[in-house]
Amino acid sequence: MPGDLLVTNIGELATPRGFEAPRGPEAMGRVTVTKDAAILARGGRIAWAGPAAELPADAAAEARSGRLPTLDAGGQAVVPGFVDSHTHFVFGGFRADEFLWKAQGLPYMEIHKRGGGIARSVEATRAASFDELRASGRARLDTMLGLGITTVEGKSGYGLDLDTELRQLEVMKALDAEQPVRIVPTFLGPHSIPAEYKGRPADYVDYVIAEVLPVVAERRLAHFADIFCEKGIFELADSRRYLEAARKLGFGLKLHADEIERIGGAGLAAELGAASADHLLKASGADIAAMGRAGVVAGCLPLTAFTLREPYADARGMIDSGCALALASDLNPGSCYSQSIPLVFAIALLYLKLSLEETLTALTLGGAASLGLADRIGSIEAGKEADFLVLDAPSCSHLAYHAGMNIVKTVVKGGVRVLGK
Ligand code: NIG
Ligand code: FE
Repeated sequence: MPGDLLVTNIGELATPRGFEAPRGPEAMGRVTVTKDAAILARGGRIAWAGPAAELPADAAAEARSGRLPTLDAGGQAVVPGFVDSHTHFVFGGFRADEFLWKAQGLPYMEIHKRGGGIARSVEATRAASFDELRASGRARLDTMLGLGITTVEGKSGYGLDLDTELRQLEVMKALDAEQPVRIVPTFLGPHSIPAEYKGRPADYVDYVIAEVLPVVAERRLAHFADIFCEKGIFELADSRRYLEAARKLGFGLKLHADEIERIGGAGLAAELGAASADHLLKASGADIAAMGRAGVVAGCLPLTAFTLREPYADARGMIDSGCALALASDLNPGSCYSQSIPLVFAIALLYLKLSLEETLTALTLGGAASLGLADRIGSIEAGKEADFLVLDAPSCSHLAYHAGMNIVKTVVKGGVRVLGK
């Protein structure tokens, strides 16, 4: 049967636990570590996981007779596949020069105002064909798989017109079908104000609501609708109007909230019951607490704060306020061209005051919760999809210790070995 696999000789099996969003410190820190473990996958799902000594006898016999594929973990550690719950990985062109300007001290919004920033990626993405976007997107997915990312969220938002937004989403649909990394698509039409609507954000939002959102909904090209809710881009009234329209069409809601200035995007996310609000560098404590009460997953993107040289979001406070935390890369051509999960681990432990357990949860079950998939992925427990990683290290503590270095050796997706020996 495809998706049947017995993994033996696991030195340490480390996994969060639960089938819903891990809200608050107890759930975020709830990682079980089992020494000398084994995992049995059947039909792509975890059938059993636990101490090797307790492996069901029929599975052991089947493996001995050669009827059940096996994987020897070589005494190394196994963790769930990573869920990168916030990326913009489908885009045309590059903006390497902007990194150099930022390094010299030019602020992100200053580059944006000078016609750099998102507008340049929009131009390059509009000019790119379906096949070009598919090829560059595919190369990025291959890199993700090597990093142990088994599920990725991808946003549109570099088209800002019907054709190009649809093209980005269609590319994700095609890529989802042709390679192992699961893609969860998000529509981000209101990512920036296109040149055609300069100075008229409300008119652009009207256009998106009337002409783009319904087509995306009808073609079922995205699960979530997202918006760059920010001072000088789409402020609270436009954001509320757009998100309410999206909700009526059946989209889950996401926000880029309170990244550069505090305008209350996190509070809006709580009020609307969004799936997640991400960035949150400047979010108020009261709004974070409201998110915790409303069950909105807090998305922190430390690689963006790192490359923008901004103070990190208060991830500790978010967990302590009762939020489920997702850590994600924000991979995009401008503010953060990095998807280094290894660097996220190191930053989280050294600068975000998170424990190793909380960080592992935020990159697996927390990310799954941000995508509404906590009942299916994000932990190694009977009933979940069999997505997990064998590390080139005996303990999951090495994920942070090897700062910025990839130690993923083998990737299993849906019970099938898709990378490594
Ligand atoms: O999440 N903040 C807005 N959007 C992206 C940046 C996109 C870009 O610079 O191209 C982000 O950081
Ligand atoms: Fe983003």
